[in-house]
Formats: sequence, C-alpha cells, structure tokens
Amino acid sequence: MDNVYTTVHDSRIWKFPAGEIGVRIEDGPWKGEVIVAHIKSGDDIMKVLLLEEALRGEGVQNIILAMPYVPYARQDRVCNVGESLSIRVLAKLINSCSFDAVTILDPHSDVTPALINNVRMVTQSDFFSESIQKDNWKETIIISPDAGALKKSETFAKKVGAKGVVVANKKRDLLTGRIEYVKLTESVDGEHVFVIDDILEGGGTFLLLAEQLQNTLSKELAVTHGIFSGGFDKILSAYDKVYTSDSYHTQLVSRDNLVVFNSIQYILTH
Ligand code: R5P
Repeated sequence: MDNVYTTVHDSRIWKFPAGEIGVRIEDGPWKGEVIVAHIKSGDDIMKVLLLEEALRGEGVQNIILAMPYVPYARQDRVCNVGESLSIRVLAKLINSCSFDAVTILDPHSDVTPALINNVRMVTQSDFFSESIQKDNWKETIIISPDAGALKKSETFAKKVGAKGVVVANKKRDLLTGRIEYVKLTESVDGEHVFVIDDILEGGGTFLLLAEQLQNTLSKELAVTHGIFSGGFDKILSAYDKVYTSDSYHTQLVSRDNLVVFNSIQYILTH
C-alpha cells in the first residue's frame, strides 16, 4: 500500500514516466472520506492534493486529512537571511484543500497548529502516556533534550507522575545544522531516565545525550516521529528501550528493544 491512501474507497496511485503522480479513487457511491498521509517527500504532498481534487470532483463534501507527521514543521522561523518560512508554504498548500479536519500528532511547535486551518492536534503527552505501559514513573526522571522541548516534557512528567524533569542545553550551528553540543544541566547518575522529544532525525542529539547517561540505572527514549536517517543500530544500542510511532515509516514494526505504536489508529480514535 502507498504511504498516502484513502480509507473509505480504495485509491490507486502511480507515477507517470516523466515523474508526475497520478491518482484514481475507485468507484463510489461517493461519501465522506479520510485521506491518510505519511508524508516523506514532495511527491507525497502532491498525492494528498490530487486525492482531494479527485474526491471533490466526484462531489465528496466531507474530507478529513490524517497526517501524523507534519513535514517542514521544523522550519518554523527564518534562521538565516534568504531562507523560506517553510511551514507557511506547507500550510498554504494544505489550507487550499479546505479539509473538514486536519488531524496531526505532536507537531514540532505551536506554529504548525496556528497556520493550518481546522487542525485537530493529538499531543505527545496523551500519545505516549496512554501508549506506554510502565510501572516506575514515580522513580523516573524525564529528560528534555533542549529548552524548546521543556514545556512538553514538563506536561508529560506531570501526566505520568514522574520524579522530576532535567533539561539539556543544546547548540546547533544554524547554517550547517551540525549539533555543537548537548549538555545536561544537572547530573542524573544513579537514576532511571526517560528522554522524550518530538522528532528523531539522524539521532545525533540522542547519541550525545546517551553519552552523559552512562551512569544511570536505566535509560529509555521516546520520540514521536522516528525518521532514523542515520540508521537504527547505534540508537537501539545506546538506550535500553526506544519508543516511537509509524508516523514516518509506515512499515516500521516493534523488534528487540524498539517499540512502535500505530499513529493513525491513535489519532483517528482520540
Ligand atoms: C529539533 O528541532 C527536534 O525537536 C529534535 O530535537 C531534532 O529533530 C533531533 O534531530 P537529530 O535526531 O538529528 O539529532
């Protein structure tokens, strides 16, 4: 199955020789529809726009977009002169479809729900607190990998009744994207720790953090959107357990110490 699809009627998606995308929704009767989109590329964004157009063409009124991972959400400010405010571009495209609801999971910042119309946001704290079965929250310190994630880490800690929250200072070179350092603001030696963040891309942030968590009793990591562009092995060996969702990789399944939750099922039922 394609990583963009419709749930009520079957849809067929293909690529023409010149690289353009084609879509066809199978026969009606036409009624309300959910477009599920695990967006990994510009082609996937185009598939959403084409499916919406095809459905409208058949007179479908109510269309919901279930898009757990919102691409371009990290470009929510112009970091260097001459760059684009990319999330605004993505929002304009999505808003042009006038969806009845756009259901998203743990977006990178408040800018995403502010720019997308009819957004329905499922929070990180609801998603992970309801999905993860763990009985020692009271003895666990929540680690926020940077100041930007602190508010969400605190909300999560409160929700699960964790022992406390420790934040790290993180510095990234905004021109190259390279992480210069990630440094915990206090020691968590001898503690059970649980690192939580919205996105794991290459994993550099979490590998640098793991180096400072060597003397903990246990270390777990939860990242809502697991992209793993740097591969899985290093991360899975740096943490006792890693929790994520299939918001980006639809085929990702639990194995060894990796636990993968179904993002679509969760966002469409909460
Ligand atoms: C940053 O803006 C995000 O919240 C994550 O901290 C970041 O995407 C992690 O990136 P990486 O896995 O490449 O260190």
